[in-house]
Amino acid sequence: MPMLGLGVYDMYQQQAEQAVETALEIGYRLIDTASMYENEKEIGNAIKNSAVKRSDIFLTTKLNNCDHGFEQALKAFDKSLELLGTDYVDLYLIHWPIKEGREASWKAVEKIYAEGRAKAIGVANYTLPFLKELSNYSNVVPALNQIEFTPWLFDNTTYSYCKQNGIQLQSYSPITRGIKFSDKRLITLCEKYQKTPAQIILNWNLQLGVSTIPKSSQKQRLQENFDAANFKLAAQDVEFMNTFNEGFRICDDPMIFL
Ligand SMILES: NC(=O)c1ccc[n+]([C@@H]2O[C@H](COP(=O)([O-])OP(=O)(O)OC[C@H]3O[C@@H](n4cnc5c(N)ncnc54)[C@H](OP(=O)(O)O)[C@@H]3O)[C@@H](O)[C@H]2O)c1
Repeated sequence: MPMLGLGVYDMYQQQAEQAVETALEIGYRLIDTASMYENEKEIGNAIKNSAVKRSDIFLTTKLNNCDHGFEQALKAFDKSLELLGTDYVDLYLIHWPIKEGREASWKAVEKIYAEGRAKAIGVANYTLPFLKELSNYSNVVPALNQIEFTPWLFDNTTYSYCKQNGIQLQSYSPITRGIKFSDKRLITLCEKYQKTPAQIILNWNLQLGVSTIPKSSQKQRLQENFDAANFKLAAQDVEFMNTFNEGFRICDDPMIFL
């Protein structure tokens, strides 16, 4: 799996198709969508229209909150494949650890994996208590956990657990949708490395071994974000950014589902 990919939340119809086609031209090979984003059809179209082979693209989609439960999850997966116009995904994730149903849903996801229709399976928004609970009934260790993770939300307990248990961590809303770009400490690093705020933050993820999926629908920003892999923050600057944590969140705290 490529470590840096494109998130496609909040892009629709022609804009979504165009963004994915442009991203594939730039060199992105990991696309992260979800049933919840209501753009699986457009993502599938963009992949079909692109000169890049399907087998060279790492495609992720996710089980929606309204589709939990064993039978419902199997049906929802079939629907996602149909919309995406493909007969497999590279990664299928449970989008949120919904209270009623997450165990039955995981069993369905394991079945999909056993059938080879998802090459890998994992979870999203599974902070530590959810990962521990999952380990009590899972037969397959999730390959990946996608959580909100930024210097301002440095969840060291989930990060360390994933590292110790061979679960690839992936950060969502990695650039805080731009909200933290004016942090003076970040600006100092931008000046030091002559890089943009997005590039510094994305590189921080990569130096920690965390995969990341920034969203953009603009060609210039797609290129800017993709280029974030082309330099290396020094170890002391990575450690400095680890101290920015202040529990700042864009999305809901998954603990509401505990
Ligand atoms: N599993 C989950 O529950 C979950 C939750 C949230 C997100 N996600 C995934 O993570 C992906 C990324 O998260 P996100 O979309 O919430 O937030 P994000 O990637 O942190 O930020 C995206 C926003 O920042 C802007 N942007 C992108 N690149 C920029 C740059 N270089 N400079 C300035 N602004 C820039 C984008 O606008 P433009 O498009 O106009 O460039 C967009 O408004 C999502 O698309 C989705 O795939 C998953």
